[in-house]
Amino acid sequence: MKAIIYSKYGNPEVLQMKDVEKPVLGDNEVLVKIYVASVNSWDWDLLRGKPYLYRLIFGVFKPKHKIIGCDIAGRVELVGKNVKHLKAGDAVMGDISECWGGFAEYVCVPERLLTLKPSELSFEHAAAIPQAGVLALQSLQKSITVKSGDKVLINGAGGGVGTFALQIAKSLGAEVTCVDSYQKLEMLYNLGADHVIDYKQEDFAEKGSRYNLIIDVIANHSVFAYKEALLPNGRLVVIGGTIPCLLQVGLLGSLLSFNDNRKLGILIHEPNEGLDLLLDMIKKGDVKPVIDSIYTLKDVPIALQRLGDGKAVGKIVIKVSEYNDV
Ligand SMILES: NC(=O)c1ccc[n+]([C@@H]2O[C@H](COP(=O)([O-])OP(=O)(O)OC[C@H]3O[C@@H](n4cnc5c(N)ncnc54)[C@H](OP(=O)(O)O)[C@@H]3O)[C@@H](O)[C@H]2O)c1
Repeated sequence: MKAIIYSKYGNPEVLQMKDVEKPVLGDNEVLVKIYVASVNSWDWDLLRGKPYLYRLIFGVFKPKHKIIGCDIAGRVELVGKNVKHLKAGDAVMGDISECWGGFAEYVCVPERLLTLKPSELSFEHAAAIPQAGVLALQSLQKSITVKSGDKVLINGAGGGVGTFALQIAKSLGAEVTCVDSYQKLEMLYNLGADHVIDYKQEDFAEKGSRYNLIIDVIANHSVFAYKEALLPNGRLVVIGGTIPCLLQVGLLGSLLSFNDNRKLGILIHEPNEGLDLLLDMIKKGDVKPVIDSIYTLKDVPIALQRLGDGKAVGKIVIKVSEYNDV
């Protein structure tokens, strides 16, 4: 099968398209022919092995996973003898970041990582949803119940996670402020943002506005600045950001949250948890994936560079195989 592989951390040039052995099916696994994958910022991090702390998990000197790619949509070709819920021919989707391998024509994964693809959803849209959509949903669900009229701020709103978080927050009736670079602000308005802030011109934490929920995919403020920007009972949910900031929120954030009704925390992503609920919102039309661009498998390095350069508006999708079903 064709796959994009790498054997050392680096820039997208270290990726090569090669013919490799098709994976061997385990008893609890399903073999999926991948039609479409999508690019996530985790792929970018894994490609470069940065932040360096990630190497403790993903390989200290060289990457443990030779094929990256964590969001997939495709069809089941074979199932292992212990597989109970899926069968050959099923159209499936899921975040397979537990085992990786999405930038390839085939992957073997445990069935619990996959969900049946709703027939009304295209494979392109299905591949764009799992990781970013679920991170967005979990950031709005786990620490607070967002209600109509709540003020929500999303820092880094124009990327994969933010475009989902904005739409989910709007569907719950929140008043949403989106922070991102100037080029993405019009798209964010069109998607329903009530207010937008160009982070290169203004610092949301210095404006004096306060929020019930701050979702931050790019966390780069001090815990004190975050706390000042929260209303009583407000929550900060950090999804990603610089290591010093993550450490500060993780360590100092819990101390500062003690005896205070404003809480600061980091979201620990649980892959695919809540995906069914998100798919219901998508079927109702409350949320739709924002597709930045579509590339083929051989152009994964270009697609990753586009994400790394901050040019993507929403999700970048990779057409892995030719297919003519829906
Ligand atoms: N918590 C977990 O368990 C978990 C699991 C998986 C992934 N993650 C994290 O989840 C995050 C996913 O983000 P994503 O996929 O939405 O990323 P993305 O698609 O790269 O979007 C990030 C957005 O932030 C904007 N941005 C950059 N610098 C900014 C700044 N200083 N202020 C405000 N906005 C800024 C970028 O725009 P410009 O570049 O144009 O400025 C871009 O639009 C990543 O941080 C990833 O590491 C967390």
